[in-house]
Amino acid sequence: NAAEKGGYEHFMLKEMYEQPKAVMDTFSPRIKGSQIEIEELGMTEEEIRKLRKIMIVACGSASHVGHTSKYILEGLARLPVEVDMASEFRYRNPILDEQTLVVVISQSGETADTLAALRQAKKMGARVLGIVNVVGSSIAREADNVMYTWAGPEIAVATTKAYSAQLTAMYLLAMKFGKARGLLREDELQEMLGSLKALPAQIEMILSNREKIQKFANRYLAARDIFFIGRGIDHAISMEGSLKLKEISYIHSEAYAAGELKHGTISLVEEGTLVAAVLTQKELYKKMISNMEEVRTRGAFVMAVTVEGNTEVEKAADYVIYIPETNKYFTNSLAIIPLQLFAYYIAVGRGCDVDKPRNLAKSVTVE
Ligand code: G6P
Repeated sequence: NAAEKGGYEHFMLKEMYEQPKAVMDTFSPRIKGSQIEIEELGMTEEEIRKLRKIMIVACGSASHVGHTSKYILEGLARLPVEVDMASEFRYRNPILDEQTLVVVISQSGETADTLAALRQAKKMGARVLGIVNVVGSSIAREADNVMYTWAGPEIAVATTKAYSAQLTAMYLLAMKFGKARGLLREDELQEMLGSLKALPAQIEMILSNREKIQKFANRYLAARDIFFIGRGIDHAISMEGSLKLKEISYIHSEAYAAGELKHGTISLVEEGTLVAAVLTQKELYKKMISNMEEVRTRGAFVMAVTVEGNTEVEKAADYVIYIPETNKYFTNSLAIIPLQLFAYYIAVGRGCDVDKPRNLAKSVTVE
């Protein structure tokens, strides 16, 4: 009812607005003095140094957090990271042992495939860390260690604030591992913590510009296909942007690694096709701009999400959304906000049941 939604039209919008708090509540209890302390990890620095591999296993949006985390963990801790969907992991005879840390990510803590993957990883001797939102859930109880995301209850089927909290938890983990393995210097850590603490206000700022995105979304209510392109972390962000859009608006959408477009998907681009390009990684700006030009010559309308200051992008985009500057590993937390708003306003404009999209469940407890 209306009171539960706190004045918002939908739970999804309310929960999007709770993201600054979800992010803050997830990092603040774990920053003590100026250091990261994750007691519930239950691992000494010595044990962290002994790890040979990390496997991240999850479903849906939580698996997109996994894809983003791969870039961050590999970048900061130089540990090989594999990311798998739980439904694939459990039937593919994965290679892991005592020196593998399996990280299972789940909002509900009840997803059947994720729980089965956890049990299998434990049986094979790996240590399992759960990143879970629901306290006392099955995954929280069965994991060797559990690091809670403090997003609070999430009602809308399409996740927003739990996703943002999961990203935050993974940032902390990656920084902790980078430090323990001697790869992240103290001054670098301090700079990153500064950027982390700035995220809630930056998210707030992006949310306050929602009307601009609503106006833009209203022009695309009749779209048939939308493509999301990006490279590196931006590809992972694209996956989540695309999923949000398709699950609540029922418009077909796909996320594509921008460099891979020319191997097939570009044949689907025609006059007026909307392509959402995500560019938050400076070293890849040029490559992305050339991909945007490729689709634009074929008639695509290009919407770009990029970082303030990257005005270069305007020569290859028809519409640009700027996000504030942050550490290159944290850009997902900001870039996803306009994409959530875009999906939301398209779905609202099309008259969809935003909080309860057809055929979907909040928590998938059957295989
Ligand atoms: C369902 C939800 C998604 C969620 C996925 C995994 O499909 O609709 O929003 O990402 O399950 O759920 P979990 O609770 O394990 O994070």
